[in-house]
Amino acid sequence: MKEKIKEIMELVKQKLNSIKKSAEGQALRVEFLGKSGKITELFRLMKEVPADKKQEVGQILNNAKQDIEELISNKEKTLQEEELNAELNSAEKIDITLPTPNCTGSLHPRTIVQKRIEDVFMSMGFVVEDGNEVETEYNNFTAVNVPENHPARDMQDTFWLDNGQVLKTHTSAAQNRILKKHTLPIRAIFPGRCFRNEDLDAGHENTFFQLEGVIVDKDVSVGNLIYFMKEMLSKIFKKEVEVRLRPGFFPFTEPSFEMDVRCPFCDGKGCPTCKQGGWIELCPCGMIHPQVLRNGGIDPEKYSGCAFGLGLDRMAMLTFGINDIRELNSGNLKLLKQFKPEE
Ligand code: DAH
Repeated sequence: MKEKIKEIMELVKQKLNSIKKSAEGQALRVEFLGKSGKITELFRLMKEVPADKKQEVGQILNNAKQDIEELISNKEKTLQEEELNAELNSAEKIDITLPTPNCTGSLHPRTIVQKRIEDVFMSMGFVVEDGNEVETEYNNFTAVNVPENHPARDMQDTFWLDNGQVLKTHTSAAQNRILKKHTLPIRAIFPGRCFRNEDLDAGHENTFFQLEGVIVDKDVSVGNLIYFMKEMLSKIFKKEVEVRLRPGFFPFTEPSFEMDVRCPFCDGKGCPTCKQGGWIELCPCGMIHPQVLRNGGIDPEKYSGCAFGLGLDRMAMLTFGINDIRELNSGNLKLLKQFKPEE
C-alpha cells in the first residue's frame, strides 16, 4: 500500500509539472481525489488491510489525500497569478494614468459668447427661446411686416425649399410665435442659425448666427432698449460702454436704428478693430412695428415693444479677435480649440 501511495504521489507531481493553465487543476483533482479517483480507490481497499495496520495505513492515506489537495491548490494559485500578470501586461491593458488633453472637446467661440450673453439677459429677467431653422414664409416674412411682393423681401436673398418654406433668413422669424406664446409682459431672447444666399468674404457667410431679443410691455421706449443693450455689452466687454443710435430701416421696426458701441478696445481713440473710426456697428434694433404686434395678437394701442437682432458671429469675432467670419464655420480645430469659457 505504501509503495502504491508513493507511486501515486510521483504521478501527481509529474502531472502537475505538465499543466499550463490553472483550470486544468480541477481535472487532476477528479483524477486522484474524485469518486473513482486513484486515492479514493485505495480507501476502498482499506477493508482488506489487517485490523492492526488499519490505523497506520488510514493515516498515511489521509495524509496523502491532504498533500495532493495542497499540491494541486498551490499549483493553481501560482498559475492564476501568472495568468493575471499576463493579462495586465498584454496589449489590452488600460493605463488610467494616461493624460487626455488631446481628447477633450472644447466649446465653439460662438457658443461661449452665446452662453455669456444668455446669462446676462437671464439675470435681467429674460427667457431664452429656440427658433426653427426651417420656417414658413409667413413667419419669416409676412408676420414681421414684409408682405409678399414687397421690395423689402429683396433685402434678404433666401434659400427656398420645394415645399414653399424657407431656411430662416433671420431670427426675427421666431418673433410671431413668441409673441403668441407668452403672456404679457414679454422679455425673451432667441439665438439661432440663419441662412442667406451671400457671396462669401471675411464679413459674410451663407450660414451665420443671430441673437434676437424682444421686450413687450406697457410704455416700452427706446430708453429701455438702450438700457438693456448697454447693460449687456458692459458685462460682455467687462467695462462701462457707451452706445449710440443711428437711423436705420427695417420693415418690422418703427423707428429703426443701428446701434453702435464706442470701441471697447481703444476707448474710441481708433484702432484696427474699429477701423480707426472709434465706433463699432453692432446691432440693428428698433421699436416693434404696430403691425408686427397685431400679427402676434397684441394690441399696439395698449402695449409697445422694442427688438434687436445681434450678430452672434460678430460678437464672437470681437470678443476673441477673430477677423474672418469664415473661420467660425471652418471646423479648423487649431483655431477653435484655443478658446475657453472662463477668462
Ligand atoms: N432681422 C434683421 C436682420 O437680420 C435684424 C433686426 C433688425 C432684428 C431690427 C430686429 C430689429 O429685431 O428690431 O437684418
